[in-house]
Amino acid sequence: MTLYGVGLGPGEADLVTVRGKEVLRNADTVYSPGRLSRTVAIEHVDESKIGNLDFPMTKDEEKLRSAWKEAAAAIAPNALDGDVAFVTLGDPNVYSTFGHLRRTVTAFHPDVDLEIVPGVSAVTAFATALDVEIEAGAGLSLREAANGVSPAGPDRMILFKVTDAPATHEGLVEAGYDVTYGRRLFMEQGETVVTDDPDAIDERDYYTLAYAERNDLAEQATAVFGRETGDSPESTSEDSAPSDTSAADGGTAVELERAEGCEHGDCGGHR
Ligand SMILES: C[S@@+](CC[C@H](N)C(=O)[O-])C[C@H]1O[C@@H](n2cnc3c(N)ncnc32)[C@H](O)[C@@H]1O
Repeated sequence: MTLYGVGLGPGEADLVTVRGKEVLRNADTVYSPGRLSRTVAIEHVDESKIGNLDFPMTKDEEKLRSAWKEAAAAIAPNALDGDVAFVTLGDPNVYSTFGHLRRTVTAFHPDVDLEIVPGVSAVTAFATALDVEIEAGAGLSLREAANGVSPAGPDRMILFKVTDAPATHEGLVEAGYDVTYGRRLFMEQGETVVTDDPDAIDERDYYTLAYAERNDLAEQATAVFGRETGDSPESTSEDSAPSDTSAADGGTAVELERAEGCEHGDCGGHR
């Protein structure tokens, strides 16, 4: 029997993979580390199958180790008797609490079989939500930008944990980046916001990321299409306007929900 780490995707229930859905349906118990992942999971399994366990959210390494040992000790017998699932938002192997469980179970309960079902990660979902294309040959780095930090260096970066967008923005612009922010992308809970105006998302919400691209990058050869009227008989000046201006107009007026993220456990064990 098996312990499955199941990636639920960014938050909309129909972005759970077919395989993930199947595993959840067949699992005897489904453990969820937070409120948001639980909300997605119960779209696919009866609430009575959700296991009750406290998952540690602490930076204290000693407490973290002992809490995960406790959690693993509670889960392991069920995974030897039947199939159990541990769900995470996004992908279980990307910035996820599942890593702590996997390491602890492997070390202390080696008889438990482990299998991971990948999920749609914010690392890829952002591109569609922000209308960004990462062209073939382009480099892309994943960084954290919590508490106003502004990482710099790579041509293109996805920044997770953008908790102080105005401060992060200042540093990025100074370092020569164009930045677009995405909050609660493909999520049913809370408002989705896509904007290049950091002041529109100055209230902290853990489920916020940014895409930063150096503003001196060379264009792709086909980028001229739609800009040069001579290339296409149909082309007009409107061709260069983005079809959805929400990411570029810097001011989608939305009511923002209060930050909740880590308080409900849908984040990495270290905050
Ligand atoms: C601990 S990481 C979890 C990543 C997740 N395992 C994944 O693969 O997408 C949490 C960070 O991912 C980003 N994130 C995850 N889901 C998001 C979403 N639906 N919308 C915007 N940002 C998201 C935020 O920056 C958040 O602070």
